[in-house]
Amino acid sequence: MSTPIEISDVVIVGAGLAGCAAAKECREAGLKTIVLTKLHPLRSHSGAAQGGINAALNEESALSHEFDTVKGGDYLGDQDAVKLLTDKAPETIRWLERMGAVFSRREDGTIAQRPFGGQSVARACYAKDRTGLTCLQTIYEQATRAGVDFRAEWFVGDLLYEAQTRRAYGVVAYNLATLEFRIFNAKAILFATGGYARAYAINSNAHCNTGDGLSIFARRNLPLEDMEFVQFHPTGLANNGILISEAARGEGGRLYNGLGERFMERYAPAKLELAPRDVVSRAIEQEIAQGRGVGENKDAIWLDLTHLETAIIEERLPELRDLALTFQGRDLAKERIAIRATAHYSMGGIPTDIRSRVRATRHALSIGLYAAGECACVSVHGANRLGANSLLEAVLFGRIAGETIVRDLPTILLRHAFPRDGDRFRSEVQTLLKNGGSESVAALRTRLQESMTAHAGIFRDRSSLEKMRTIVSEIRAGFAAIRLGDKSSAFNTELMEALELGHMIDYAALIVEGALAREESRGAHYRDDFPERNDKQFLKHTFGTIDTDGAVSLSYAPVTIIRHQPQARTY
Ligand code: FUM
Repeated sequence: MSTPIEISDVVIVGAGLAGCAAAKECREAGLKTIVLTKLHPLRSHSGAAQGGINAALNEESALSHEFDTVKGGDYLGDQDAVKLLTDKAPETIRWLERMGAVFSRREDGTIAQRPFGGQSVARACYAKDRTGLTCLQTIYEQATRAGVDFRAEWFVGDLLYEAQTRRAYGVVAYNLATLEFRIFNAKAILFATGGYARAYAINSNAHCNTGDGLSIFARRNLPLEDMEFVQFHPTGLANNGILISEAARGEGGRLYNGLGERFMERYAPAKLELAPRDVVSRAIEQEIAQGRGVGENKDAIWLDLTHLETAIIEERLPELRDLALTFQGRDLAKERIAIRATAHYSMGGIPTDIRSRVRATRHALSIGLYAAGECACVSVHGANRLGANSLLEAVLFGRIAGETIVRDLPTILLRHAFPRDGDRFRSEVQTLLKNGGSESVAALRTRLQESMTAHAGIFRDRSSLEKMRTIVSEIRAGFAAIRLGDKSSAFNTELMEALELGHMIDYAALIVEGALAREESRGAHYRDDFPERNDKQFLKHTFGTIDTDGAVSLSYAPVTIIRHQPQARTY
């Protein structure tokens, strides 16, 4: 098979905040920059982030943001990375503002900031409750103005990577509209492909968040880091998991169980509803499990904002009001809404250094290969991300990735791709189209998502995870017998979903094995059978690789501790 080759300086996969920010930097430095995305850039999941972007502004010191982030992450975050994140946060807000992002303001004209979970002060800058969308539109506009070449609706399925030299030199993709394959050959490749919470049945993520970038790396025998750490956001709409921003609690929203108790008083007496997400999510699920839920099936919790002035809701939470009205038929200014924890964010991902360069192994960096945003694990969030740190990470590390590429590029010679380099992905697609089995994509995906929620979700133990290990193997076997009803070339969404499912199966195995091996509870990873944090054995990052049969191998790397020694984490 011969696949056409297109050459550029930089290829970026993913057009959310990290991808757009990096692309803008590269293009403004004069580099020919192509951005591939399976969506339109403005449909990227960054646009769904609602509540805010953290920065220590005015009198606050970055050190308190740094400490909150380290503690919030249950001491698994690398403290050099956290320091960079929090030191550069104010400048990141100014960068966004200068480009035209309109943040909400106080009466005196300064940028408004609201409280978010696990933070010692009100630190989240916001644009009503559409902060991600505001940032994404702004950076996309500026990247377009700079001349970035965006290619919407291209599905990337393979990374061109030479293991001996640890060198990346392109990606293989096909045009969703035509099934035309192409090799994008470049000196620098950046993955900014977003998170993987779509592996769970109830989640707040866009349909696109199937973790493709992670499995593409894993299939090149590159390691993934800390995959067992999946964040559940406390307040998804109970009926479908759609995000109801932490801003609701930041503005004063309260949680009540079926007995009318403000139950957070028992779980986090000091912080109440504004404890970190892992703490509040577990409290919600525990209330439900112990029969104190609300609603017909007692499987939800009330979020109450009715004591807030309607003007505040109109001014600061209009999107949430719309969502509750559309999907639950309730006006949250007048009635309580039913919520439940929802899979939301991936702390794990592609290991990088603080300059966004991908680690090919625990000890060696790759060449010409970068990752930023939710698909990357720098690791700034450790075992649990604080709300409003993800927009910050995406924008900041997207920019850093762009700057690093600009700096590295003169030292990288283009390794030319060959037309046959596209064969691996082409044959994956051909096999799926021709397969004569009997399994359906939708049925296998539903089984995977429901089982992950049940057995590898907020609460896990050895027996649930071992069950999940077996289920992943069964689903993998089922996947080999998949049959597509649609064999066409134009916008074949069934084919795309089959490819995505293949990715989900691979990284689900890494989540499960990482979680099984980590016999402790830390941040979002809670083991019923090991309820305590165990720094002696597990103050370390998991590195996982997977072979072609789905067998996972794990190794570990130390956490970078600088000035914050692990302490008991109470709120
Ligand atoms: O609750 C929220 O608005 C989500 C923000 C975040 O995940 O950072």
